[in-house]
Amino acid sequence: MLLDGKTGLIIGVANKHSIAWAIAQSAASQGAKLFFNYQGERLRENVEELIATMPGAKAFPCDVGDDAQIAALMQNVGKETPKIDFLVHSVAFAPREELTGQFVNTTRQGFATALDVSAYSLVAVTKAALPLMTDGGSVVTLTYLGAERVVPHYNVMGVAKAALEATVRYLAHDLGPKNIRVNAISAGPIKTLAARGVSGISKMVDHHREFAPLRRATEQGEVGDTALFLVSPLGRGITGEVIYVDGGYHILGSLASPD
Ligand SMILES: NC(=O)c1ccc[n+]([C@@H]2O[C@H](COP(=O)([O-])OP(=O)(O)OC[C@H]3O[C@@H](n4cnc5c(N)ncnc54)[C@H](O)[C@@H]3O)[C@@H](O)[C@H]2O)c1
Repeated sequence: MLLDGKTGLIIGVANKHSIAWAIAQSAASQGAKLFFNYQGERLRENVEELIATMPGAKAFPCDVGDDAQIAALMQNVGKETPKIDFLVHSVAFAPREELTGQFVNTTRQGFATALDVSAYSLVAVTKAALPLMTDGGSVVTLTYLGAERVVPHYNVMGVAKAALEATVRYLAHDLGPKNIRVNAISAGPIKTLAARGVSGISKMVDHHREFAPLRRATEQGEVGDTALFLVSPLGRGITGEVIYVDGGYHILGSLASPD
């Protein structure tokens, strides 16, 4: 059992399709004890129902846009366990109208919200978790190729993911001396609640299935197992990295063809 005796905090489960839930299942299958957040009362029941099957798992409210809620989350987790070994940040948000049409129409408020919830929140939750990461640790966040390449309609979320990936490197530099590793997984498109906010997501998944070297759509479980690797001792030499779990899609040039 790779995570025997290890404890993790998973931020970002909304429902059974959430990437965070797949990560939780992979981690739990290797013996991890897990704590969760739920974004608000609306999601509480969903999350509590899901985690009911996991021995010892508990969930607490936390909107990552609010420092007081982040502090309360860490306090609640701290009452249950003296330390955590890993933290999963699987959260993103941009107003729906920003994820359709052209990027040039991005509003100041939409830009600020997307960057705050999707990128700054990694700094906020990592900093707040430090007092619980007394024995080193591993932080994993989720990103997407739209950080580096233009993906129509991904728009301001691409800019937020670029900021998130840079944040991973700066945090990795700061926290390496404490033996805390910080990495991102760049997942291929998967139809989750958040992804449904990006107009054209079905087309993106189909395109991926047709052109990705592995000729299939990315599945949550593939991302979950890579996160398991990163938070386990197997990933002990890796920090500041973006690992692609996208069936190889990101290696393609524009003229790559399925034939
Ligand atoms: N689905 C994809 O195609 C895909 C691809 C690459 C990366 N990602 C990333 O994976 C992560 C998880 O997304 P998902 O696809 O599993 O969708 P999801 O909707 O299941 O998860 C997104 C989570 O973000 C949470 N969230 C949003 N705003 C929040 C806030 N203010 N406070 C607290 N929580 C908040 C939601 O409650 C939800 O649990 C995101 O960072 C997303 O950008 C997704």
